[in-house]
Amino acid sequence: MRTKSIEESIRDTDDPERGLRRSLSALDLTVFGVGVVIGTGIFVLTGQIAKTMAGPSVAISFAVAGAVCALAALCYAEFASTVPVAGSAYTFAYASLGELPAWIIGWDLVLELALGCAVVAVGWSGYVRSLLDNAGWHLPQWLSGTTPETGFGFDLLACVLVLALTAILVLGMKLSARVTTVIVAIKVGVVLVVIIAGAFFVTADNYRPFIPPAKGSATGGGGLTAPLIQLMSGYAPTAFGVMGIFTAAAVVFFAFIGFDVVATAAEETRRPQRDMPRGILSSLVICTVLYVAVSIVVTGMRKYTKLTVQAPLADAFKAVGQPFWAGLISFGAAIGLTTVCMILLLGQSRVFFAMSRDGLLPRFFSRVHPHFQTPYRSTILLGVLVAIVAGFTSIAELAELVNIGTLFAFVVVALGVIILRRTRPDLPRAFRTPLVPALPIASVLASLWLMLNLPTETWLRFAGWMVLGGIIYALYGRRHSTMHERAPERTGGE
Ligand code: ALA
Repeated sequence: MRTKSIEESIRDTDDPERGLRRSLSALDLTVFGVGVVIGTGIFVLTGQIAKTMAGPSVAISFAVAGAVCALAALCYAEFASTVPVAGSAYTFAYASLGELPAWIIGWDLVLELALGCAVVAVGWSGYVRSLLDNAGWHLPQWLSGTTPETGFGFDLLACVLVLALTAILVLGMKLSARVTTVIVAIKVGVVLVVIIAGAFFVTADNYRPFIPPAKGSATGGGGLTAPLIQLMSGYAPTAFGVMGIFTAAAVVFFAFIGFDVVATAAEETRRPQRDMPRGILSSLVICTVLYVAVSIVVTGMRKYTKLTVQAPLADAFKAVGQPFWAGLISFGAAIGLTTVCMILLLGQSRVFFAMSRDGLLPRFFSRVHPHFQTPYRSTILLGVLVAIVAGFTSIAELAELVNIGTLFAFVVVALGVIILRRTRPDLPRAFRTPLVPALPIASVLASLWLMLNLPTETWLRFAGWMVLGGIIYALYGRRHSTMHERAPERTGGE
């Protein structure tokens, strides 16, 4: 339960061989945030969830998930402005809760970000394949990824994308920020096209009923695919109806994942105290507004029962006889998903870097490249691993694992805010979460509620990953932690 003080965390960033360059502004952070947040969630999940769980009220689900994220974001903003060190929730937990909770959260974040990146890479490759198909170029089935219909195939495009992005990240933060800016502009442009052009094709009839009547189970059965809350209480969440909105919110939550990743870039931010909260909150607000607008327009263009699952936004335009817009949207989605992947990859390498700098993982991985000043070793290691996972696995259902990991991190961060206010009331906090402890407690409860709406098998997989992490910590991290090495100095010297 030893903690690493804020001062120690900040001092460690001064080591020239293990510190990162401060080059990002609030605008860069917002672009980063929007770049990582808008992705598979809005481009793919909107249709699927409207069709199977919420109907046009999916717009409310987005608002609910956005509200849960806003509570967490207010907690993240305080932390990121107080502890401007790489590693996000991991570093926060180290400073407030202790080494073991920090390890748990770091291990959890690696899962969230690595798997999230793989999921999005596979989604991207689907879009690109469909564009290539339109152009008359067909990849052989054995290079087109694994699907239930076609069986096993290596996902060449997903794998190549992850490796290419890894190379960009190794070459340097500034290059990646510039590339991101252009791509994010295209992506937001496409989302705006959907909203504005789509608004002309909305038919009021499609909104009736706005909240379709409840029916059956949301997951189509009991057992391990049922939400945990159902297993615990016997209460069966229904598809559609008012409760369906909440079940859907636990899934569309995926669309918001990433704003917390902004916090992992704290150490590379020029004025973190001011810019961190601005970056986090503005990216969240922008995305929530766009999501609600897109879902209202899309469910208005096409009856929710007729929306498609793979490319709902583009297909809604095809359905109203607008193939040009449909092609443009597919193109924008394919481009836009690359930044999501890249920033998830970036965040994950930074968390790994921070854990390695603290000795919880081998210190070999925290060397910064002498020329590019990037943590190239952790970036390359994780990039290759994610490329392999993305190439070989069909991971649609693992998106839920990403959700549970992220919500768990939200819980820890909110608790951390309360604890740090008690243990270190003296710290300068450029941004203070309002209404402590009520707001962080509300954040914990809201995150737990969404977690309970996720399938039991997701909980079991999550538990498996955490047990593996516990074993690694017990066998390696506990003894090699730099705090372990510093401990004798402290007792002798202070
Ligand atoms: N929020 C990101 C997405 O929707 C992960 O793809």
